[in-house]
Amino acid sequence: MVLLVYVKVLGIETSCDETAASVVEDGRVLLSNVVASSMDLHAQYGGVVPEIAARSHIEAIIPVIDEALEQAKCGWDNIDAVAVTYGAGLGGSLLIGVLTARTLAIAHKKPLYAINHVEGHLYANFLTSTPLPGYVLPEAAPEFPVLGLIVSGGHSQLVFFRDHFDYTLLGQTNDDAIGEAFDKVAKILGLPYPGGPSVEKKALEGDPYTFRFPKARMPNKYDFSFSGLKTAVLRLAQEQIGEDFTFPSTGLPARLSEQQKADIAASFVRVANETVVDKTVQAFEEFQPKTVIVGGGVASSPPLRTMLAERLPFSPEYTDRKLCTDNGAMIATLGCYKAMLGQDAADPYTLDIAPNLSM
Ligand code: KG4
Ligand code: ZN
Repeated sequence: MVLLVYVKVLGIETSCDETAASVVEDGRVLLSNVVASSMDLHAQYGGVVPEIAARSHIEAIIPVIDEALEQAKCGWDNIDAVAVTYGAGLGGSLLIGVLTARTLAIAHKKPLYAINHVEGHLYANFLTSTPLPGYVLPEAAPEFPVLGLIVSGGHSQLVFFRDHFDYTLLGQTNDDAIGEAFDKVAKILGLPYPGGPSVEKKALEGDPYTFRFPKARMPNKYDFSFSGLKTAVLRLAQEQIGEDFTFPSTGLPARLSEQQKADIAASFVRVANETVVDKTVQAFEEFQPKTVIVGGGVASSPPLRTMLAERLPFSPEYTDRKLCTDNGAMIATLGCYKAMLGQDAADPYTLDIAPNLSM
């Protein structure tokens, strides 16, 4: 088996509403990172509309890839492999990225690596240097064994990595992801999408101990459930305005006072974060990893970071906020490790999407 040591990989990511491409060298050096988001188009609907996302990817994908190569000062001659997200995600969105990557890999005769989006989120933490301005990266790559927490709009997972490609999924959400719960609570409170930052901002004006929302008890202690919490928020909001459960959620923002919204937001943020932190601390104590890494959009949450730092014996290092939400760099980084460690490449003629892929 030939082990490549110096590799430059083009990563392509289109699993949700971001069309993203990036070039990464050796799984460490971020050479370019280009993201075009259709988020503004979805904001008016309070969530991602799959058809709009897919159409936006078609328009953006080629310019985004061209810009990623240009920013990295790379031609195709300098690219050793293409990596692409093939799951999990929205079917129509994944299809655009995968078909583009397959075509480019065939046309330019490059190996193609199929990347699991959720694994990718954690690999954003392996980037340690960049010539690009405006990025704050960790000084060193995470040391194994690693405890990985993925908290995003589509995923909530705890994973224990003994080494690259040698991991155990400890637990995952049985229903909504944590970011999805933030987005749904934002809708109930009439706050803008994406819900994470807007609910957190509102929470700053409220008292997190006003309401005691329930924490789900799961048969597997590392599994999550956020749908009960979201429903508890809905019921409480209805109660606060003196209505019963039949009152439509769309009517709530106009009837809740700003203080009620702030107190609900603050109480929700506290319980959502405590749920994730409790399980991370439990897993830390059981598995004694050398490092804890956090990936996904919610990893950029300041209250989550503060709570983790307070409850773990050390503060986890984080990658730049721009690399927490969906991006091509995390896909390129994992692609580099696949190439460097001799993992199998995908067949560019047959690689299919896997919308429900798990870890
Ligand atoms: O990783 P990501 O970009 O997409 C998925 O793979 O799902 O995560 C998007 C999610 C959204 O649900 C958004 O509300 C949440 O990340 N998010 C945050 C913050 N920034 C984004 N949640 C909490 N606090 C934030 N600061
Ligand atoms: Zn994601």
